[in-house]
Amino acid sequence: MYNLVYKSIANTLLLQAQIDEMLEHARVFNENNDITGCLLYHRGIFVQYLEGELEAVLALFERIKVDKRHSAVDLLSSSNIYTREFDTWSMAYLEGNIPNEAYEYIELMVNPVMEIPDMSVIPNPTSKRFWLAAKKLLH
Ligand SMILES: Cc1cc2nc3c(=O)[nH]c(=O)nc-3n(C[C@H](O)[C@H](O)[C@H](O)COP(=O)(O)O)c2cc1C
Repeated sequence: MYNLVYKSIANTLLLQAQIDEMLEHARVFNENNDITGCLLYHRGIFVQYLEGELEAVLALFERIKVDKRHSAVDLLSSSNIYTREFDTWSMAYLEGNIPNEAYEYIELMVNPVMEIPDMSVIPNPTSKRFWLAAKKLLH
């Protein structure tokens, strides 16, 4: 098993309907390919966590990288893993349009990703803590 985390910049301000459509497609594909994960979208920035079999995750990432809906796709981390973090989510989705408390938390999570490139700040999206926090916000 393998996971990877990347960030990217949405090419235009994507409409919610376009994101919904993309997620619908992604969830079917991911389920068929045993891929799980979480997509965060905030202020035009995507951060995505993908996990599954190595070949399946890498093949999907190759397709995601050339998707015209975003650019500056930047791989932040990748590693072999033993267990999934999002075993029941074909693609969990978290974005800014949520209650205040959670919104502030997302700001704290996402801003350092863009502003502190060396990822020295904790929690950052290469850490397990970051995605456990995302998981909590989704419940
Ligand atoms: C930020 C972002 C995340 C995406 N995540 C997934 C995903 O998890 N699974 C998926 O199948 N497609 C995902 N896509 C869509 C793929 O990039 C691609 O459009 C889709 O796999 C269809 O590829 P195809 O046109 O080669 O059939 C994502 C796209 C973007 C912009």
